Amino acid sequence: MSTILEANQLVKKYGEFQAVKGVSFSMDEGEVFGLLGPNGAGKTTLISMLTGVLQPTSGEARIGGFDITREPLQVKRLIGLVPQDLALYPTLSARANLNFFGSIYGLRGASLAERVDDVLQIVALSDRQNDAVEKFSGGMKRRVNIAAGLVHQPRLLFLDEPTVGVDPQSRNHIFESVQKLNRERGTSIVYTSHYMEEVELLCNRVAIVDQGQIIALDTIKNLVAMLGGGVIHVGLRQFDSALLVKLSQQPAVQSAEILPAPMESKPDVDAEAPESAISLIKIEALHSQEALVNLIQFINDYDLAIASLEILEPNLESVFLHLTGKKLRE
Ligand SMILES: Nc1ncnc2c1ncn2[C@@H]1O[C@H](COP(=O)(O)OP(=O)(O)OP(=O)(O)O)[C@@H](O)[C@H]1O
Ligand SMILES: [Mg+2]
Repeated sequence: MSTILEANQLVKKYGEFQAVKGVSFSMDEGEVFGLLGPNGAGKTTLISMLTGVLQPTSGEARIGGFDITREPLQVKRLIGLVPQDLALYPTLSARANLNFFGSIYGLRGASLAERVDDVLQIVALSDRQNDAVEKFSGGMKRRVNIAAGLVHQPRLLFLDEPTVGVDPQSRNHIFESVQKLNRERGTSIVYTSHYMEEVELLCNRVAIVDQGQIIALDTIKNLVAMLGGGVIHVGLRQFDSALLVKLSQQPAVQSAEILPAPMESKPDVDAEAPESAISLIKIEALHSQEALVNLIQFINDYDLAIASLEILEPNLESVFLHLTGKKLRE
């Protein structure tokens, strides 16, 4: 597999402030690579350097073997950029906008028309191509913006938060376009987002970016596995603190605690059943599978009754929380 992108110690300073603090990573051709990070993490600044919008303060990068600062024209031909902010002519139709972007890349006549037809289809807007963009919903405008980044058939596409402020239907169209481009055309994609669900759905590998740095980079599976386990919530009857100590000592159990009873299980006027006899226990597992097997065994051994059981697998959100001590979106 060939390398499409290689970044080495990229730095961007605004005065004394370092927005990007020495970022290095590489991407194989055909990857969908996620940049996940909160507001202000430095995602747009990083993408802007890679696409030639901003000059790096230091460091270097190659795209398709070309140096981004010394060979910008060769790089431009290989890449497409869909910026975070819309860049469209509102009074022009979707088609006219795309004709304009295509002509910037030297496309003319029949080949331009063919490319515009193709990208309109990719973003599912063929039927609205002659309407002025100002009459479109936010999501449809974003889709035209994506199409604009695609007319010249880039090998590497940068999508900067393509679903912010987008209705659910357009969001799904965007996901499908990304998957289609990658699977059917082999386009490599850098996908920036602060929605971990999107990154989990679309990306092979993810760089978690925080305060100008990549703090973790791996496949989603490996990032999640790094946390080792998950959390199990189990509701048990006739449970007490002596049993809690024993439960905490089970293999693969990292910790166990009794959670405060939720409101609805507190005895109230019409509570006939002895709801208060149920203890809700939170188990942090080193390996959720193994902990679960041991938990069932434990329940059998002590002849306990299960009232509820829930297994919470870790996700990218928990990885982010683990690494930074904060939530992705506050
Ligand atoms: N032109 C500028 N001058 C000074 N500081 C800037 C400039 N552009 C960005 N910054 C700062 O650099 C940091 C990174 O900004 P950037 O836009 O790259 O973040 P981001 O990860 O894309 O955030 P978001 O998710 O909000 O788009 C922020 O602290 C921002 O305030
Ligand atoms: Mg940004």
